[in-house]
Formats: sequence, C-alpha cells, structure tokens
Amino acid sequence: MIVTIDGVAASGKSSVASGVARALGVPFVSSGLLYRAATLLALEAGLSLEGAPALLAHLEANPLRLEPLAGGNRVWLGGRDLTDDLHSSRVDAGVSAVARLPPVREWVNAQLRLLPDPFVAEGRDMGTNVFPHADAKFYLTASPRVRAERRARERLEDVPAIEAALVERDRRDAGQSAPAPDARIIDTSALSLEGVIGAVLAGLPARTA
Ligand code: DC
Repeated sequence: MIVTIDGVAASGKSSVASGVARALGVPFVSSGLLYRAATLLALEAGLSLEGAPALLAHLEANPLRLEPLAGGNRVWLGGRDLTDDLHSSRVDAGVSAVARLPPVREWVNAQLRLLPDPFVAEGRDMGTNVFPHADAKFYLTASPRVRAERRARERLEDVPAIEAALVERDRRDAGQSAPAPDARIIDTSALSLEGVIGAVLAGLPARTA
C-alpha cells in the first residue's frame, strides 16, 4: 500500500505525512531529504550545483541511504548520520538547483522505488512520476500568506519576507510540482494539522484505511 502526499513548499506535507503514517501504522518517506543530502554532499565536495555528471558520479561513489522511520526520516552516508545537517541555510539555498537536474531526479527516484511498501511518501512528484500507481494520492495547497505565517511561527522570522521567499520557491519548483490528475487536492489554509490529517484519512479508499 502506497499513499502519496505532494504539495507546495510549506504546505505541511511532512507533518501531515508523518501523522497519516502514524495513524496507519506504517513508515513515512520524505523524498526531499534525498535532494537535501545530495546537495550537502555536493557542497562538502566543492562541486558545482549545476554540474550533473560530476554530481552523479559523486553520488554513485558515496551511496546515501534513506531510513524511513515512523517518527522522522534519517539519511546515512555509510555510518555518518547526515540528518541534522540537511536543513541548514546553505542546503536550503542550494537544493532547488540540485533538484532541477534530471539525472539527480532519476537517482532519487530509483532510491525511493527500492523501498519496501507499505509507506506514505511525501514530496513534489510522488503521485505523478515516482509512484503513479499509488493506492491514494493527495496534493496539499495553502495561500502564500498562511504558509508564511506557519513558517514564521517555526522560525521566528518576518512574515512578509518569508512570504516573498515562498512565492519565489514556488516559481523555481513549479516544474517539479503539479498535482496528479487523480490526486485529491486539499486546501489547508483554514485547517489545523489534525484537520488535514483527518481529511487525508477520510479520503483513503476503504481497503487502504
Ligand atoms: O520538501 P523539502 O523542502 O525538504 O524539499 C527540498 C527541495 O527538494 C525543494 O526545493 C523541493 C525539492 N523536491 C523535489 O523537487 N522533489 C521532491 N519529490 C521532493 C523535494
């Protein structure tokens, strides 16, 4: 059983995917962490974030492993746990460029398709490119202002500045993020986290829930 949860930046995908996975008693899979880990490796090796062949060769020589734990995913490089370094501002700033490289996307997708199901996968293209035959697909949206307010609460930053950065990220990520034709779209602007989790659980086909 595979459930996909895609959506725009800061729409709450990982909190929702984690809550849904917990309710179903299965792991969740955070695909963005693999893009972040690829970015961290490139930065540490001093590679260009736009040079796909060198970056891919580096990824193949340094195998990363995503561990989809129920409480939060971890990414390993051999025995080194990279997870705590994946949300730094330099990774935030570089990851969109890395996620635009088609060979890196193919590499990430191949890693994800090796994971044993059942799981709930969250990202941008889980329901479209990676798991087109998923049992249930959801796509989360929210207004830029609401997303900025949620981020501001987490990071104690200024709402208008965050909103502008989110709109810019939406523009940069637009190629990667579109709802699958068979996804249920949930506008989370007026919903609490529990409300969104409840809407996803209510939208699961009976044999999945
Ligand atoms: O969800 P996140 O913020 O951890 O994602 C990090 C980056 O990776 C973000 O720029 C979007 C991109 N991404 C993607 O292109 N495709 C995915 N399936 C997941 C994330």
